[in-house]
Amino acid sequence: MSKLTKEQFELLKDVGYSVKVIELYMNKVNVGVIENADVSLAYRGPCGDTMKLYLKISNDTVIEDAKFQYLGCPAAASSGSAITRIAKGKTLEEAKNITEQDILHELGGLPEAKLHCPKLAVTTLQKAITTYENCQRKPLTVK
Ligand code: FES
Repeated sequence: MSKLTKEQFELLKDVGYSVKVIELYMNKVNVGVIENADVSLAYRGPCGDTMKLYLKISNDTVIEDAKFQYLGCPAAASSGSAITRIAKGKTLEEAKNITEQDILHELGGLPEAKLHCPKLAVTTLQKAITTYENCQRKPLTVK
């Protein structure tokens, strides 16, 4: 995305987005694809917005890199930026405990009508981790 115009910036501020949210949205922080991701997963939330998350995991344990793509609102975008920032360097167990409140804290809040948006990012991350863990489980050998 090209840089926002001053008018777009002011409009986002007027509807209640914090400067932090606008900066993350404007700079597309962690928006992208990890080509050799260990897991990628797309999730469509109840509002219809969609997030696709890519994780690179080292030693089956630590989230080394995280990127995302999205179709949705600035709050969905900034929530994706926030959760990928928070998740990087965390173990899978630690990342499972990331909450919507953690994202809201990282963003400096969201307009009231957008308070549900971090849930899209949290649910996508949780589903991606579950998918990864299910794929890592070795099938039991029945004798
Ligand atoms: Fe659905 Fe923002 S309106 S995630």
